[in-house]
Amino acid sequence: VTPKILWNNPISLVSKEMNTLAKNIVALIGSGHPVLNKVTSYYFETEGKKVRPLLVLLLSRALSEIPMTERNHLKIDKSDVPEDPIYSKPSQNQLFQRPASSISPLHILHGIKPLNPLTKGPEPLPEETFDKQRGILPKQRRLAEIVEMIHTASLLHDDVIDHSDTRRGRPSGNAAFTNKMAVLAGDFLLGRATVSISRLHNPEVVELMSNSIANLVEGEFMQLKNTSIDADIDTIENGHKLLPVPSKKLEVKEHDFRVPSRQQGLQLSHDQIIETAFEYYIHKTYLKTAALISKSCRCAAILSGASPAVIDECYDFGRNLGICFQLVDDMLDFTVSGKDLGKPSGADLKLGIATAPVLFAWKEDPSLGPLISRNFSERGDVEKTIDSVRLHNGIAKTKILAEEYRDKALQNLRDSLPESDARSALEFLTNSILTRRK
Ligand code: FPP
Ligand code: MG
Ligand code: MG
Repeated sequence: VTPKILWNNPISLVSKEMNTLAKNIVALIGSGHPVLNKVTSYYFETEGKKVRPLLVLLLSRALSEIPMTERNHLKIDKSDVPEDPIYSKPSQNQLFQRPASSISPLHILHGIKPLNPLTKGPEPLPEETFDKQRGILPKQRRLAEIVEMIHTASLLHDDVIDHSDTRRGRPSGNAAFTNKMAVLAGDFLLGRATVSISRLHNPEVVELMSNSIANLVEGEFMQLKNTSIDADIDTIENGHKLLPVPSKKLEVKEHDFRVPSRQQGLQLSHDQIIETAFEYYIHKTYLKTAALISKSCRCAAILSGASPAVIDECYDFGRNLGICFQLVDDMLDFTVSGKDLGKPSGADLKLGIATAPVLFAWKEDPSLGPLISRNFSERGDVEKTIDSVRLHNGIAKTKILAEEYRDKALQNLRDSLPESDARSALEFLTNSILTRRK
């Protein structure tokens, strides 16, 4: 079975919403600056997997199959997302009735966009397209757009942090536009995502989604390594090549949890060290990948008026699926070529990051400890680690761990949702996480 079929199948149930997703997002992120528009929309121009919005939409449909008697009527939010007065309505002021190309400093200062086709705002939803027929509420649809905006912002920043020069088979945002523009575009996307979150007018949803942004940053911080490449304060932009500037190592020993035995006064056995390292890795994985997924699943359930037990199951589903997703990502970094991934492969070891396959090898081969501690920075470290991962079946063991999380996610679906096409599609999507090749 080709990946295309795998990903297409579940999409067909929500294809209408998925087809307008990118267009609606572009309507939410228009700015008064044409170059900023170019950078912010850059990652939306190529076909990403769009797993996160797909999950939110399918879950929303599956939640709508829960009988009304089991939902809190007062909490089902069928209202439309309020129109944005600044970005969606044409200004009456003559000053702003200018062609898109003429951008006044006032537009930028006041965050008011000049009139151009982007100002129209997202597509309005005709009444019958949601609730009765498709089960997806307008605010759940907006939630799907928000989660993809936050994810894309994090990718723009991630590629700067990881010095990646490709994504989705073409130059990364930083390679195409410079680090500075990629960072600012990510910040802008987050700003607009925040506007959209607040316009959902649900304090619990606002808190969850805002926290998911903070979680992404915490996760990335847990992954920062004390290497010269991390200490870079800038890169030389040399054409399309980004060259790291050699700089002094940062001394942040008190935050260095990679090798737990280094912590003050702790004498741990090898097994305890491995156990702590796995705990740290899974927590980091939750924060950097699963938090956004699990919190958006929780929000989809909240908006549908689901019971507290169902809301919790939806959150657990997102958490388990998210961790499974990142475990597979960390596996593919070892097993698939950069050409097939559309982004650099073998990147984690080069960045000094030890993921599950390495931790499994380290459990059997304590001699990997010093290599992990020095972020694989000495000659031959990367090769020695790859050999050890191979010898100790690090990839196969990671796959088994990913399968455990997949099974827990499948159980969460069965425990919280009645049988339906949408639930089957979610099960299919959950299963296909493990067979994906990119
Ligand atoms: C991809 O991981 C990156 C993430 C899952 C999260 C990145 C988060 C940040 C950079 C924090 C800043 C967040 C915001 C919202 C601006 P990866 O590098 O392992 O995967 P890759 O192979 O796709 O690059
Ligand atoms: Mg990366
Ligand atoms: Mg990264």
